[in-house]
Amino acid sequence: MSEKNHNVSRRQFLTYTLMGVGGFMGSAMIMPMVRFAVDPILRAEAASDMYELTEVENLTDEPQSFPLSFEQDDGWVTQQVEETVWAYLDGEDVVALSPVCTHLGCTVSFGGDESNPDQFFCPCHFGRFEQDGTNVPGTPPTEPLHRYEHEVRDGIVYVGRPQSQQ
Ligand code: FES
Repeated sequence: MSEKNHNVSRRQFLTYTLMGVGGFMGSAMIMPMVRFAVDPILRAEAASDMYELTEVENLTDEPQSFPLSFEQDDGWVTQQVEETVWAYLDGEDVVALSPVCTHLGCTVSFGGDESNPDQFFCPCHFGRFEQDGTNVPGTPPTEPLHRYEHEVRDGIVYVGRPQSQQ
């Protein structure tokens, strides 16, 4: 076999280079589509996760805000999520509410309005919610605050993701 047979011709070099670049660009275009297709599966896994919120003995019959911190996987990205949960005891039952106003997404606080100290108040458009999250008629929100799915194990409250009450 002569040395000449081992040499790559200019045509072959260009063909291999173009195939490599084309393959790279093609995979760069396909990966977002694959991720889009697989994302619902990833979300279903994430939705089943429960995160430790606080001990039940820290809850009272009046809503208090508790920080919630957890890692969330989204595709190849893992990010730290920081949220606030309003939680209280309704008899023996734990109620955990999202602070996100169902009007346009501002943050509500319990007792934030001096004239309605037993309600959640949204300062953006003066939205109000009853303690159980029910929207007060005549104020902008048309949907109750979302509730966190939750469970109690060994005296610890674990919460999942907030769900619509409708
Ligand atoms: S965003 Fe809360 S009332 Fe509008």
